[in-house]
Amino acid sequence: MLDKFYITTAIDYVNGAPHIGHAYEKIISDIIARHYSLRTDNLFFLTGTDEHGIKIQKTALSKGIMPKQLCDENSQEFKDAWAKLDIGYNRFIRTTDEDHERVVQKIFQRLKDNGDIYKHEYEGWYCPGCESFLSPKDLTQDGLCPNHLRKPDIVKEENYFFKLTKYKDAIKDYIKSHPDFIVPAFRANEVLNQLEDIQDISVSRSKENVGWGIDILDDPEQSIYVWIDALSNYITAIGYDPDGSSDQFKKLWPVDVHVIGKDILKFHSIYWPAILMALDLPLPKHIFAHGWITIDETKMSKSLGNVVSPTSVLEHFELKYPDAFRYYMATSAPCGRDGNYSDTDFKEKVNAHLANSMGNLLNRSLSMLVKYFDGEIKEEFLTNRSKEAESLLRTASGSVKIIENHFNHFELQEAAQVIIGLVDSANKFITDNAPWTLAKENKMTECGQVLATVLEMMCIVSSLIYPYCPNIARDMAKQLSYDLTTKYDDITTSNIKAGKLISKEEIFPVFLRVDSELADKSKK
Ligand code: MSP
Repeated sequence: MLDKFYITTAIDYVNGAPHIGHAYEKIISDIIARHYSLRTDNLFFLTGTDEHGIKIQKTALSKGIMPKQLCDENSQEFKDAWAKLDIGYNRFIRTTDEDHERVVQKIFQRLKDNGDIYKHEYEGWYCPGCESFLSPKDLTQDGLCPNHLRKPDIVKEENYFFKLTKYKDAIKDYIKSHPDFIVPAFRANEVLNQLEDIQDISVSRSKENVGWGIDILDDPEQSIYVWIDALSNYITAIGYDPDGSSDQFKKLWPVDVHVIGKDILKFHSIYWPAILMALDLPLPKHIFAHGWITIDETKMSKSLGNVVSPTSVLEHFELKYPDAFRYYMATSAPCGRDGNYSDTDFKEKVNAHLANSMGNLLNRSLSMLVKYFDGEIKEEFLTNRSKEAESLLRTASGSVKIIENHFNHFELQEAAQVIIGLVDSANKFITDNAPWTLAKENKMTECGQVLATVLEMMCIVSSLIYPYCPNIARDMAKQLSYDLTTKYDDITTSNIKAGKLISKEEIFPVFLRVDSELADKSKK
């Protein structure tokens, strides 16, 4: 068991509604969190919204409302969406939360008092989309921001600057000496290249230009610029205070993993470590930069009108639970690579994996147990099993370790493949051993042994699939009388006990094929 696990997501800008890209990140983080909840009693999962800055200010202005009202409305939309996706966070932080704002002011002051922040007149290209100054090297050939494909604004201001360059060598050393700091490792080189060109960064904006920000305590003309505010959420949320932090902070920091998109890796692997070094705090254990989700292989954008809301997928397919969508998203790309969402692919994949392979296997096995044995497991079903059965159970135990290892590297698609592989081998085992033929031939003990072996495997499968599909796992475990809160180290191959397991009326499908007649009926 681990003594703790602390995981965070990026906090989303609230100038629009949540889309499938935001959802992807929260889903994979929730899956990692649920997996680790089986490996520690002290898990903390943080998510939230990033609410200050010029973008929000402008959006609010264009709607004729106050920025805070816009933030309240949109932040609630994110929360509602995450509830529908069963994102089980421990805290939803908003950067307008009073405790966050107060500590950010103190952090800024501490950095300033220590000489890490200085005032300087500056002129540069500023992209409001990125909430960041861009160097000429960052721009496309046409002089546009590569992320937002718009011309940055020229901004001339006297701002506070953070001495990022002072930490350049220390960060470089840290990245080189901690090969698992940046996940996937292939992105570390990208960061090392970016480090070569870094400059000190602007960490405040004039109040006149950006009023919607946290005030600097001893300089009312300036407000704290978004990235220091935003990044600090990871420590303020759990009780950091430069004047004395909470016990919770002492227990949870350093964070085990920051889950973020590849577009904001620079901020997390260069700016954030520098700020932490300046505050004399240990650095994160891992920064996991996931890829981006496209829709039908096309980048999502408002102008193309192809922005998909995660809840619209649930509504479109009339899904009772978000499990299938969670499973699909989490398995849409190998670790750190870009993934894609398409309706057709979604249907095909979840029908094949969750309905045909996994759901059917449980349903068939339980139905046969009822048909041949009135739902009862006899003592002799659990002993003297065939070599093939024993080997299958050994594979299942081995998979638990393999999956643990994949999760140690945040390889969710890869871990899911192992689970489905396990289900496939159980399906093959049942086909090869044909319990229905054994029953016909009156080889009842052998028949019961085959069924008990598969049901035993399904207990393990329900634990393994739980992080991806918590509702399906719960329904599987219920029919198997299996304790889904079993900790990871205690997952064994002896969960099925002799005695009555189930009756006909208690059997129900855990996942109906999307678009099947049966699914339609169950909705009516
Ligand atoms: N507010 C900043 C993050 C501050 S973290 C201290 C921000 N917000 S965002 O709303 O633009 O993005 C939030 C997260 O969603 C980022 O990690 C980003 O990479 C992710 N995604 C946004 N669009 C995405 C896709 N199309 N696909 C996958 N993730 C995407 O950046």
